Amino acid sequence: MEATTGSTVRIVGLTRQFRTGAERLTAVDDVSLEIAAGSVVALTGPSGSGKSTLLHLIGAIEQADSGTITVDDVEITALRRTALARYRQRVGFVFQRYHLLPALTVLDNVIAPVLPQRGRADHATRARELLDAVGLGGRERAMPTQLSGGEQQRVAIARALMGAPGLLLADEPTGNLDSTTSAQILDLLLDLRERHGMTILLATHERSIAARCDRLVRLGDGSLVEDLDLTDGEDPADTYERAARLRL
Ligand SMILES: Nc1ncnc2c1ncn2[C@@H]1O[C@H](COP(=O)(O)OP(=O)(O)OP(=O)(O)O)[C@@H](O)[C@H]1O
Ligand SMILES: [Mg+2]
Repeated sequence: MEATTGSTVRIVGLTRQFRTGAERLTAVDDVSLEIAAGSVVALTGPSGSGKSTLLHLIGAIEQADSGTITVDDVEITALRRTALARYRQRVGFVFQRYHLLPALTVLDNVIAPVLPQRGRADHATRARELLDAVGLGGRERAMPTQLSGGEQQRVAIARALMGAPGLLLADEPTGNLDSTTSAQILDLLLDLRERHGMTILLATHERSIAARCDRLVRLGDGSLVEDLDLTDGEDPADTYERAARLRL
């Protein structure tokens, strides 16, 4: 796999409202945030605090009402359709429920995002390399239902890496997994970051996961309420202590 350079993300005054009947709900409320290239950031906060909405805005799945998002010097909040579609292909997205296509093999699930593009043989080669990288070499022809939850999430991660993203957005990627499997998925993400330098923004409710990230950003009612640097020279092995200090 080729090495990529992690993206830098700059968010300024980002706001997203939803209309529910006569009410207006501000899901993301004037958030400003700068994410360094190659960092792994945990996005935490109670249910409904705006984590998924923020990830959807950064991934350009949803549109902001106001504010800007700039990824690697491109203001994505100002992009039009074609450029936006191109940007979306360059961002990796991993979801809590994997979202694999049940009728496709593991290999075809990984290839699926780039199917409209030419070069099928190249795609298959790359997908095989990615499946190897996530520890699923040899399982290419399996169907998703034949895999465990952790294995399905590995397929989803391989799929997210197909476009060699500089930015990986993960919405509670370990939310459906037991703690051992969750830790393994995080090992995998941290290892991918080491090898490819990508930037990872990961929404999570789990202390043990957040504690292993470089930085913790907490949302409350759509606003940024806490921003902690977790790379402050502490023994990185001492994650339990660190986790205990994090009120997730
Ligand atoms: N499409 C939508 N229409 C209306 N309201 C929405 C929509 N999407 C999200 N919301 C509301 O916006 C707020 C933020 O939701 P969001 O899904 O971003 O929270 P979250 O932090 O990801 O929560 P969870 O931890 O439960 O996943 C919530 O109050 C939610 O009900
Ligand atoms: Mg959510």
